[in-house]
Amino acid sequence: MKQFISVNDVIDINELVSQALQYKANPFQDKHLGNGRRIGLMFFNPSLRTRLSTQIAAQNLGMDAIVFNAGGDGWALEFGDGAVMNGTTVEHIKDAAPILGTYFDILCVRTFPSLINREDDYNEKVLSQFIQHVGIPVVSLESATLHPLQSLADAITIQENCTNFTDSRKPKVVLTWAPHIKPIPQCVGNSFAEWMSAWDKVDLTVASPEGFELKDTYTKGATITNNQTEALADADFVYVKNWSSYKDYGKVLANADEWMLTEQSLKHAPNAKIMHCLPVRRNVELNDELLDGNRSLVTQQAANRVWSAQTVLSNILKGL
Ligand code: CP
Repeated sequence: MKQFISVNDVIDINELVSQALQYKANPFQDKHLGNGRRIGLMFFNPSLRTRLSTQIAAQNLGMDAIVFNAGGDGWALEFGDGAVMNGTTVEHIKDAAPILGTYFDILCVRTFPSLINREDDYNEKVLSQFIQHVGIPVVSLESATLHPLQSLADAITIQENCTNFTDSRKPKVVLTWAPHIKPIPQCVGNSFAEWMSAWDKVDLTVASPEGFELKDTYTKGATITNNQTEALADADFVYVKNWSSYKDYGKVLANADEWMLTEQSLKHAPNAKIMHCLPVRRNVELNDELLDGNRSLVTQQAANRVWSAQTVLSNILKGL
């Protein structure tokens, strides 16, 4: 593996999930693989799970991990080609990135979208320039459009809870939009839809209010609907997530409380397990009863972030 930016960097999802479950059973089986290697984790945005799980994963492989809060502690970076830097930006990505390439063997970057300029965000203006100029493998810790380490952890979690399914009776996985009070990136929804669509193990349905459909690039092969009740019927896994509008870019939907997931929403899905990447707005996106009940997989999902990151890092290390 040369980089980990999207599902397109993965040859075989099943193989990756299988490797992750082996690491979960035996975390230190490759504890010397990363000896003498250093990984940089650059955060332009806040994080709990991604920051800690990726550090733990690197340590399990014997790597030295350095975290840099680029958003708060770093120089303001310029990304414009030919920019006259007489404003607020201090250092050009063309100068900064190659230096990082000499400090580290792998660079991981978290950079959220603006949710203002759709073209820049969907062209991955920031992450693509790190890839272009750093000269070492890059791992996305959540970019403007995707969150692949989360999606791999989600696939691991589904696999672990996927008993009694066959090729002719695949689990029904529903990604449902949920309310939120502020504009949230489409990354987790895009990424989850892209991974589930690419995975031969599940059937995916994506439900959202009208005008809040994800970009169709990510939902190819999925059933798309604006009817949450119909979508949830007989679901085996329900992934709850808010995202702002792709169409009316960054727009929030107010007064959409009927989309909050509750036990009542699942009256026709008695076996459905509940997923959310966290952090979650309790009693806005879904209620306490579901999050605290037996249906919830959210802690298992977050725990699986370690094995997701460890699997990806080990595959990159083997290719160095
Ligand atoms: N799910 C997730 O990426 O969590 P953090 O934002 O806390 O890293």
